[in-house]
Amino acid sequence: MAEQSFDVVVIGGGPGGYIAAIRAAQLGLATACIDDGSRSDGKPAPGGTCTNVGCIPSKALLQSSENFELAGHAFADHGIGVAGLTIDVAKMLARKDKVVAQNNDGILYLFKKNAIAYFHGRGAFAGRDGERWRIAVDGPGAGSLSARHVIVATGSSPRALPGTPFDNLRVLDNAGALSIPEVPKRLGVVGAGVIGLEMGSVWRRLGAEVTILEALPTLLPAADEAIAKEARKAFTRQGLAMHFGVSIGAVRVGEDRVDVEYKDAAGAAQSAGFDRLIVSIGRVPTTAGLNGDGVGLKLDSRGFVEVDADCRTNLPGVWAIGDVVRGPMLAHKAEEEGVAVAERIAGQHGHVDFNTVPWVIYTSPEIAWVGETEQHLKAAGTAYRAGSFPFSANGRARALGDTSGFVKILADAADDRILGMHVIGPMASELIAEGVVAMEFGAASEDLARICHAHPSLSEATKEAALAVDKRTLNL
Ligand code: FAD
Ligand code: NAI
Repeated sequence: MAEQSFDVVVIGGGPGGYIAAIRAAQLGLATACIDDGSRSDGKPAPGGTCTNVGCIPSKALLQSSENFELAGHAFADHGIGVAGLTIDVAKMLARKDKVVAQNNDGILYLFKKNAIAYFHGRGAFAGRDGERWRIAVDGPGAGSLSARHVIVATGSSPRALPGTPFDNLRVLDNAGALSIPEVPKRLGVVGAGVIGLEMGSVWRRLGAEVTILEALPTLLPAADEAIAKEARKAFTRQGLAMHFGVSIGAVRVGEDRVDVEYKDAAGAAQSAGFDRLIVSIGRVPTTAGLNGDGVGLKLDSRGFVEVDADCRTNLPGVWAIGDVVRGPMLAHKAEEEGVAVAERIAGQHGHVDFNTVPWVIYTSPEIAWVGETEQHLKAAGTAYRAGSFPFSANGRARALGDTSGFVKILADAADDRILGMHVIGPMASELIAEGVVAMEFGAASEDLARICHAHPSLSEATKEAALAVDKRTLNL
């Protein structure tokens, strides 16, 4: 097979890889992207974890299940009667699959539009000729490529409980959790992290009895403590049974049930039986099959590809981005790194500001934050002022019928610069963008407080939280 030569070869077509490829192509670099994702019929499914078994399908199911919950519980308040409410799980899953396929097709279109050569298969380092890397592609789009620059964007895979492999029948990873064929009566979840809370919420709303078993003593320790406290109250009220400080013991997988033995926070032996068990205890970087060892690609002690602040690996011309390297495992972080690396390859000065990467958890209420938490500022001895405003005092939230939660802004006591913004409540995922922009522009809380916000809108709660920093809210 004749070798095809490129300026840049990207291995992995998730949000890190495909965005890096687009930016490289925009900058005039001859670019190829290799991705091994396939649909059930064998057709290409670029987009990685995010598109196929992550961000996109989870948000599709969160929306479907939220609609079901609203129809069952909230519509009555609006005078809307719903009789004989049912859920057709097969249809809901088919809709989710359609949303995913639309995104796969969208990426294939973007590859064409940007003249990116797409190879459907598994990419591996095959050696080096002078200043060029040789990459072999194995699969339906088999080929032999060479390039001066290689971007490794191979993502991550779910971490299993020791001794309990995923079978995606009873013991489910993220892919299994997104495809349960009927609402389980009793659903167990190990890990109260982002996946556990989002997927636990989906199946609880649809009628499952959900029990979450978490090793740590508290919920969401990375979030601001006030937000985590509010979230715990809200999820408990909704009926998610959460047990903290547990230590998982034997897991017995039967034909139609899973039994879990664990020690509770007090050290007492407990056991629970479930129809299905989601294991969401974090993810591990994917480096298998790359032949990284063969070319001396250095990994860190946790198995991530080791990179410097600019995503350079130890090998010349080899870069790595996204979930396979240090930092938060988030699609938008992977994308930002992809853009920055493509720009660096083209001789520009790409930049990623890790201090302003937003976090969002798409539960109800939604949770979102950017920047510092109050407990972190206290620990660091930074003098700050805090302002909060509850959605219960916001007109738009009242009209929506969703007044849970609040916005909180933390500002430097000396110069009023915004250090963090935290939201729990309706549309937190959208509201947080204002905090990110404000922080990127080095705004003070007074800047936000003096900006005209549309009325009635949820964003007025952000303005009021900024006013609260100076103890001068107008509507509270
Ligand atoms: P990936 O998306 O994992 O893509 C890597 C791709 O490379 C995959 O297609 C993989 O098969 C392929 N690959 C691996 N090795 C090779 C090889 N040798 N050759 C060819 N191809 C290869 N993040 C958010 O920001 N927001 C969310 O709402 C969100 N929701 C999530 C929900 C779930 C259930 C999960 C599991 C994750 C979620 N994430 C979310 C995290 C997000 O999916 C990841 O951070 C993101 O996908 C990482 O992008 P990436 O490009 O680094 O890797
Ligand atoms: P996570 O890191 O968010 O949470 C894992 C949880 O499992 C932690 O609370 C941890 O303490 C707990 N845990 C670990 N080992 C355990 C054990 N043996 N027993 C009990 N509990 C244990 O990881 P998760 O939920 O698997 O998600 C992986 C990543 O995917 C996230 O870190 C996030 O970056 C990304 N993601 C992002 C989403 C978003 O942005 N909305 C949605 C879903 C996932």
